[in-house]
Amino acid sequence: MTLNKYTPADIQGIFSKTPDKDTLVQFLKTQDPDIVEAVRAAAEETLLKYCGNNVYYRGLIEFSNSCALDCAYCGIRRSNTKVVRYTVSEDEIIKASRWCADVHYGSLVLQSGERHDDQFIDFVERVTKKIKQATVSSVLPEGLGVTLCVGEHTLETYNRFRAAGAHRYLLRIETTNEKLFKSIHPTEQNLDSRLQCLDYLKRAGFQVGTGVMIGLPGQTPEMLADDLLFYKKYDFDMFGMGPFIPHMDTPMGRLKVMSDKERTHLGLMMIALTRLLTKDTNVAATTALQALDPVGREKGLSFGANVLMPQLTPTEFRESYLLYENKPCLDEEKEDCLTSLTKKVETVGRVVAQDQWGDSKHFTARTSNS
Ligand code: 5AD
Repeated sequence: MTLNKYTPADIQGIFSKTPDKDTLVQFLKTQDPDIVEAVRAAAEETLLKYCGNNVYYRGLIEFSNSCALDCAYCGIRRSNTKVVRYTVSEDEIIKASRWCADVHYGSLVLQSGERHDDQFIDFVERVTKKIKQATVSSVLPEGLGVTLCVGEHTLETYNRFRAAGAHRYLLRIETTNEKLFKSIHPTEQNLDSRLQCLDYLKRAGFQVGTGVMIGLPGQTPEMLADDLLFYKKYDFDMFGMGPFIPHMDTPMGRLKVMSDKERTHLGLMMIALTRLLTKDTNVAATTALQALDPVGREKGLSFGANVLMPQLTPTEFRESYLLYENKPCLDEEKEDCLTSLTKKVETVGRVVAQDQWGDSKHFTARTSNS
């Protein structure tokens, strides 16, 4: 297929069934502003039709940067000795959760480096239970929605986390290309075990989210098109993806990457194409987008995203959770972060939902079919 001049309605037509890889590649490659705008508008229409006007906030608590893994791109990798390691105390996490519920976010995300020891697993389980108990109110009868983002674990561990009350889980695949995956991870990590874990998460009853990094050295539009087809085929409920941003204290810190503008563009196109393909899922406009473009997250919303993750990590720890450089919101107090973000949402004509978990509609549809 060759791309000509398209209206949003033409784009909707193309995505009325899953397009072939070549079509996706062409959308990922195009620089034609009219086609980009048609894709954006079609993605926005799809979002409004399937999910409505709401933007859902998930307060983000990066509760520990201790990590047993050594991913070549990540600033908190095990072998980065410059990082001061921390774990936020249970009391502080509960305090941040109460604040999150008080300002009507409805949900939070607990994210950390990856550890597999019993102490860590017990900690996550216990703190999840406590958050649920501590945030019950008349508007949130079951407490805050809790999403976990704590990496690869056994099915048994996932079952424990689910039983503790977490009901969404994010585990990025990073890339579905085996060769590229190998080139950015140490040998002890592999694509098959990541896929196995994503399957476990579904079996444990989670709403499951995944995503990739965009603009990795060696990544082609063809690989990204495969990632998009993977999103569709594996029937995920949520997506969080963003541009790759080098961190100087990592092995990938000095590799040549596309310009900020190009990576932002590709990140936005990935959001729009994910929306057009998967329709009723939750898609986040991630902080990494804002790191490359001051209005990256607002643009993400207008390209079809409906989830934002405002910072709740206590400010004293934020500097130690640098997965990549130029991370925004480092010193902004959570109150200011909230005010500025809500304004941004309103500038793109959307509404911040209050006191709701904001579950993926896709999950409801997927589970009522099975
Ligand atoms: N640039 C962009 N994203 C990164 N992540 C980790 N390091 C980087 C980086 N340098 C992302 C990974 C991981 C998520 C928590 O953060 O996709 O899954």
